[in-house]
Amino acid sequence: MKIKILKKLKTKKGAIVAPVFTEDLKKLPLLYGENIKSFIKDRVKNNKFDGKDQKYVTFLDTKDAPNHLFVIGAGNKADFSANKARNLGAKISKQMKFMKEREVSILLPDTLITFIGEFLEGYIMAQYNIEMFKTDAIKKKNINFNTDVLHLILNSVTKSSKEAVEKAQLRAEAVNYVRDLVNSPANKIDADFLTNEAKRIAKQNRYKKVFLGLKELKKMKAGGILSVNQGCKREPKLLVLQHDGASKREKPIVLVGKGVVFDTGGYNLKRGGHIEEMHQDMAGAATVMGIMDVVKKLKIKKNIIAVMPIVENLINEDAYRPSDIITMLSGNTVEVTNTDAEGRIILADAIHYATELDPEMILTIATLTGASFAALGHRYSALMANNSDLMKKMQISSQNVDDLAWSLPIHDDYHKEIESSIADFRNFDRGSGGGAGASKAAAFLEKFVKDNKWCHIDIGGTAFTTRPKPYETKGATAHGFRMLIEFLDN
Ligand code: BES
Ligand code: MN
Ligand code: ZN
Repeated sequence: MKIKILKKLKTKKGAIVAPVFTEDLKKLPLLYGENIKSFIKDRVKNNKFDGKDQKYVTFLDTKDAPNHLFVIGAGNKADFSANKARNLGAKISKQMKFMKEREVSILLPDTLITFIGEFLEGYIMAQYNIEMFKTDAIKKKNINFNTDVLHLILNSVTKSSKEAVEKAQLRAEAVNYVRDLVNSPANKIDADFLTNEAKRIAKQNRYKKVFLGLKELKKMKAGGILSVNQGCKREPKLLVLQHDGASKREKPIVLVGKGVVFDTGGYNLKRGGHIEEMHQDMAGAATVMGIMDVVKKLKIKKNIIAVMPIVENLINEDAYRPSDIITMLSGNTVEVTNTDAEGRIILADAIHYATELDPEMILTIATLTGASFAALGHRYSALMANNSDLMKKMQISSQNVDDLAWSLPIHDDYHKEIESSIADFRNFDRGSGGGAGASKAAAFLEKFVKDNKWCHIDIGGTAFTTRPKPYETKGATAHGFRMLIEFLDN
């Protein structure tokens, strides 16, 4: 999508969108121009438009206005907010798709300019399509009517609104990239595919990279990653990307993302549930990949290292079994009491790898438990941490950008419940009465974090949705991405 910022409406093609605040109804701003102003006045007089939240009227192809005009209520200026701007952008975006408009000009009144970044972010995120595997889409017949050119018309163009537009486009396009990775099934996106993506990102941004395959992982004894991938004939990977955005003296923030390309559950096979959705189980790695794709372009001046363990949890005669005892990269032994609690096993190795990078902090993001969904539903990811200050900051970041997360506790007793009688730890607390599944998974991770500062984001309930927000579609949401970007940018 091409975005142009203009001071005046120029084009005669495509759609014109006029968001209108209730406070402006009496004296419509000059911005709209005479034709549009008289159209709005007329509709107001006939009680067909009142400027209230997202009520709209359209006006198609007449002599006076050769464009398609779409007038939409933006609500009261007094109540307007970043979230409202994002949702308004999304609503307009979906309507433009519905109206099959490819060239769109939006007239932005002052209050909307304040939130131009959020508005545009909503617009671009709502352009996302899930039909990429329909043959018409593959043949580029364009069954999707996305906006090709977007004109943003504002009376005064400032450096700060230009910058907000640039950053919003980077962020929102990265969200859609993450969604593509997560929505694509495992026969399209496997460890090799993700490795190539990491390669591209490293090259484009000139990051340092370390890609470890079967041979290297065996040599370093990454028993967690190797065991989970044993039932898969394709190689596991540990992908590491490094952004040196600050001075060498600053310790890096290490982002660790779960990359289970597909999770059958292994011999603890997923029954009932939604096994067919388990290609989403690499959403953590996809999120981290999306972040690395844009942190440098967003000029986030931090040292950031991404660590992504990539495996597939399948079944064959080599697959790991419930009861196996494995030796992790850290040297600890783990009794595998459930092969479906595989995420924490690969993350434990990745976290151990992270601890050796002398990190400022470790942030883990993973579709780790169904229990996080039971606790918080679709709208909140679960936050757990060994540092309440860090957890607070993360929660505030989540609220700032409406990419919500809420904190859950890790009780000392949960640590005891993942201790094993036969090995150092067990990966599942069968027998201790269930409950607090997200916290217990985090307790397992915490064993490997040691005394590093750490915050964990469980997106098990939020990475995929059947109840999309205005700027989402069914399927992958990229939940956690905008929260982390907001966190890193502050
Ligand atoms: N990937 C799943 C968690 C998950 C479930 C994510 C549904 C998204 C949607 C994870 O590997 C898993 O299977 N967790 C188990 C843990 C249990 C065996 C302790 C779970 O949540 O049931
Ligand atoms: Mn599992
Ligand atoms: Zn999993």
